[in-house]
Amino acid sequence: MFPLALVAFALSHCALAARVCPRPPEVLFATINVDKSVYDVGEEVEYTCRPGFVPNNGQRKYTCLPTGRWPLNTLLCLPQRCPRPGPLQNGKIESIDSHYQSSISFSCEPGYNLVGTRTSQCMADGKWSGTFPQCQAVTCAPPSIPKFGVLSYRRLKPGNVSHFLDTIVFECVPPMALIGNETATCMADGSWSSIPECKVVTCPTPTGIENGFIEFAVRRTYHYNESVSFGCQPSYVLDGHKHSRCEKTGNWSTKPTCRGPCKIPVKKAVVLYNGEKKRVQNDLKEGIQHGETVSFFCKNKEKSCAYTVAAQCVDGNLTLPACFKERGFFSTLVKKDPSDMKPCEEQA
Ligand SMILES: *[C@@H]1O[C@H](CO)[C@@H](O)[C@H](O)[C@H]1NC(C)=O
Ligand SMILES: *[C@@H]1O[C@H](CO)[C@@H](O)[C@H](O)[C@H]1NC(C)=O
Ligand SMILES: *[C@@H]1O[C@H](CO)[C@@H](O)[C@H](O)[C@H]1NC(C)=O
Ligand SMILES: *[C@@H]1O[C@H](CO)[C@@H](O)[C@H](O)[C@H]1NC(C)=O
Ligand SMILES: *[C@@H]1O[C@H](CO)[C@@H](O)[C@H](O)[C@H]1NC(C)=O
Repeated sequence: MFPLALVAFALSHCALAARVCPRPPEVLFATINVDKSVYDVGEEVEYTCRPGFVPNNGQRKYTCLPTGRWPLNTLLCLPQRCPRPGPLQNGKIESIDSHYQSSISFSCEPGYNLVGTRTSQCMADGKWSGTFPQCQAVTCAPPSIPKFGVLSYRRLKPGNVSHFLDTIVFECVPPMALIGNETATCMADGSWSSIPECKVVTCPTPTGIENGFIEFAVRRTYHYNESVSFGCQPSYVLDGHKHSRCEKTGNWSTKPTCRGPCKIPVKKAVVLYNGEKKRVQNDLKEGIQHGETVSFFCKNKEKSCAYTVAAQCVDGNLTLPACFKERGFFSTLVKKDPSDMKPCEEQA
């Protein structure tokens, strides 16, 4: 019995004298200023969040109570947050989150080079490591063309340096023809998209056109971009551009056409021409020119009135309106010509 009684005594003694606190509770990501296994009543401890962690608004200091307990611990240490990074002009930032120790990476769009670090970490002080990088446009060196050559170029933007997507325009010294693309673009790899060539181009002696002629023609070959002009025989009408130009292909650009006049295919009739009544047999013996119109008189028998139908001369062709009737000798003696009849009312 004795040893048991001793144990009971020892326990009761302990309970009476237990005016101490055990080790205070651990707080995740926090350290404590005084670390021991037993604390006296009234002794104070202070928690500090580890680097990279910040306290919530819970209490950081606790005092060992006379009951031998610590007050309820309300402290939380939360990871530090870094501000949202960016934006990165002409590039992008890849990030999963912005907590302590997470990292972000930077990249640039095609045609832009990253200047600075590719990655950055969120540091304990809530700042991103390193300096923020930049995306700088690729530059293209001036195109390599001989200084006193026949090819030259112009920058379309002011400044000495050509950047990604800038363009330049090439020119050849006349009469050289530029073969290739006259504009070049600075590409993502720092080279120019294409560089054209200058070539001597000649066109053969131009040939004439039907019912027309070349004005002031000299029988010779012509250089690129020289031009000749054309005319038409009397009563023919020029259709198209008056000039033809020697092109890069060594061919002449499309020449004009001379369009022919039309005879009016009736022996006798009165028609409207430029708003006036004309006798075909007297006034329009030569016909009309390409593109002109004449109006023929047609008769409406039921209403005994007359109306007009226009016909146009198209390169020597003129089609009579179906309603037009050429009058025989007899009818001209006994009947009124439709051009003298009263006009029909406006046709519906
Ligand atoms: C162009 O470059 C020359 C030297 O290469 C420099 O002296 C000049 O200031 C530059 N001009 C501009 C507009 O940057
Ligand atoms: C000429 O090059 C530019 C780019 O510099 C391109 O956009 C254009 O389509 C090219 N033209 C031809 C006719 O190939
Ligand atoms: C071609 O000639 C015309 C004048 O006839 C001129 O305005 C034009 O700039 C020339 N074109 C080229 C590419 O030399
Ligand atoms: C230009 O001339 C060449 C021959 O030199 C010919 O093959 C080509 O079809 C011509 N092109 C045109 C648009 O007429
Ligand atoms: C003109 O008439 C000719 C036949 O004389 C024909 O070959 C041609 O196609 C006609 N043109 C028009 C525009 O009707």
